[in-house]
Amino acid sequence: MVPKISTLSGYIFEYQKSTANPTEFWSNIADTFYWRRKYDEVLKWDFQKPEVRWFEGGQLNLTENIFERQIFYRGGQTALLWEPNDPEEEPRRITYQELFEEVQKFANVLLDLGVKKGDRVGIYLPMVPELVVAMLACARIGAVHSVVFGGFSAQALSERLEDAGIRLLITADGGFRGTKTVPLKAIADEALEQAPTVEQVIVYQRTKEDIPMKEGRDVWWHDLMAGAAASNEAATMESEDPLYILYTSGSTGKPKGLVHSTAGYMIYSAYTFRNVFQYSDGDVYFCTADIGWVTGHSYLVYGPLLSGATCVMFEGVPTWPDAGRFWDIVEKYRVNQFYTAPTALRSLMAMGEKWLEGKDLSSLKVLGSVGEPINEEAWHWYHDHVGKNRCPIVDTWWQTETGGIMISPLAGIIPTKPSYATMPFMGVQPVIVDSEGQEQTGNSVQGNLCISYPWPGMARTIWGDHERFRQTYFSTYPGMYFTGDGARRDEDGYYRIMGRVDDVINVSGHRLGTAEVENAINEHPLVNESAVVGFPHDIKGQGIFAFVVCTELSDGGEDGIRTSIRKTVSKIIGPFAKPDLILLVSGLPKTRSGKIMRRILRKVAAGETEDFGDTSTLLDPAIVDEIVEAATRTAGG
Ligand code: WT7
Repeated sequence: MVPKISTLSGYIFEYQKSTANPTEFWSNIADTFYWRRKYDEVLKWDFQKPEVRWFEGGQLNLTENIFERQIFYRGGQTALLWEPNDPEEEPRRITYQELFEEVQKFANVLLDLGVKKGDRVGIYLPMVPELVVAMLACARIGAVHSVVFGGFSAQALSERLEDAGIRLLITADGGFRGTKTVPLKAIADEALEQAPTVEQVIVYQRTKEDIPMKEGRDVWWHDLMAGAAASNEAATMESEDPLYILYTSGSTGKPKGLVHSTAGYMIYSAYTFRNVFQYSDGDVYFCTADIGWVTGHSYLVYGPLLSGATCVMFEGVPTWPDAGRFWDIVEKYRVNQFYTAPTALRSLMAMGEKWLEGKDLSSLKVLGSVGEPINEEAWHWYHDHVGKNRCPIVDTWWQTETGGIMISPLAGIIPTKPSYATMPFMGVQPVIVDSEGQEQTGNSVQGNLCISYPWPGMARTIWGDHERFRQTYFSTYPGMYFTGDGARRDEDGYYRIMGRVDDVINVSGHRLGTAEVENAINEHPLVNESAVVGFPHDIKGQGIFAFVVCTELSDGGEDGIRTSIRKTVSKIIGPFAKPDLILLVSGLPKTRSGKIMRRILRKVAAGETEDFGDTSTLLDPAIVDEIVEAATRTAGG
């Protein structure tokens, strides 16, 4: 088991060691895992290329570190406590032994279907234990999984399947979310019309709705599992073999498939999990994130299971049957560590404290936050009403690209401050730079956040486009990884994340590229062009504000076209990417070279009506007055 730091002086000591001698530090952590062959070299790196290789020469299988390494003493322990969407339905309790059996069987299913080491497998499933089984079965045989969040549309799914060259897709008839069912199979069928690489589809039965099965392509999960052999020997993987691909948005239109490694990711997800949450044997841990995002990968599946944790996995939504659902679950399973997103907290906060009344939350020890900056009001609400003033809050800053938590308190060890992610994790070397790349040393400084040294969990490349990987993360400030976030280091040396400094917006903890939303809007037949910016939103953190130039209005007038633009975005990306506000304008503020001045649009979206700075480089400065006038008129009416 990875070591656990338990005092502040221990943190200071270990952190110092981890930066003074990173290879010795990480090799000590790595040695607590099970290797089939020990690595020859701890780290080889060059941020110019960029190339990062951890534990080269090592051979292992990640699932052996979850199962074989722990099964003798943990076989009977609960791995997953699955809480269904409908509280009336039977929950499922799955032990490590049972999970191991399912994973081995499904690994054999994949092998029987001809899936080989290195093949990419697509997963488009609801939040059911079989999603975990599917991921671990891929890791068992060395296939690279790519999970696509169930909220993505057919078009978004097919784009990702095609980019990753997926041959086999695992999906379900549908999924339950609150009062809704999501027709996953129907969406997948539509996606597959445009994803010619997919030859086989495994369908898990969840909603039991009637769905068409395509002869020769679609097979039922339960039929395959019924005939599968029970034992499977894990494939031998190299340290740097890819474990998975996960797509995320960037500042250009095309989503990026970040590639995570086997050994480095395994070690980093497990070590951060145990230390940040201070998980102890016997604790019950509940992460509310969907496995379709990186939080679910690292802190619902890999980190916790590698640490032998008992995890609550919840299929539904926080507000159904009512806004007390999370607290019912905490009470029911006696949850000790609870990890969620600020947007969920703000929406529950808006519904009032009455939903917490009478719920026994006394089991809680640690509260976690992730995905976006947590504002002070939500922090205090979480601290006072959920944690009853006795649970430390770990505000964990990290990214899909980082693979695991980078800046965060260790629960109960590093003193917290509302809205501060506080201190770097072991081995993480943050640097704050100004726009010229000049490092801002000392305390009380602010600028762009970079990381100057590799850590084991970092993504190694963008699938199929290493040059884009270099361009996006390693070229802005040569020699450093650029996060895309702004940060402040205060007088105590504490880090506060200020939000994105690029064209990425964070809506309810979901990352969206403005260009991606613009491309979707521009698909609408009556749209000429558009510009999308984020604006402060009480619940979502940031909302989506779209400025749209139309060639003509449709039948329904302005409201009609707004509705149909939202439909278009839903269809192309997914419902969560629908613009909150759409302002129809006759033109966009562009410079003579055709660049949209987003800074002006961001101000308008934030409700400002003056002080737009220098607009003299605009092709048509009058357009600004017109946009402000339209925004004021719309806001007033
Ligand atoms: C972006 C990464 C990390 C998993 C979920 C999101 C923002 C994330 C925090 C935090 C302030 C945060 C950043 C980051 N972010 N956590 N604790 N405080 N901002 O992963 O979709 O890759 O998004 O989320 O802007 O760059 P993601």
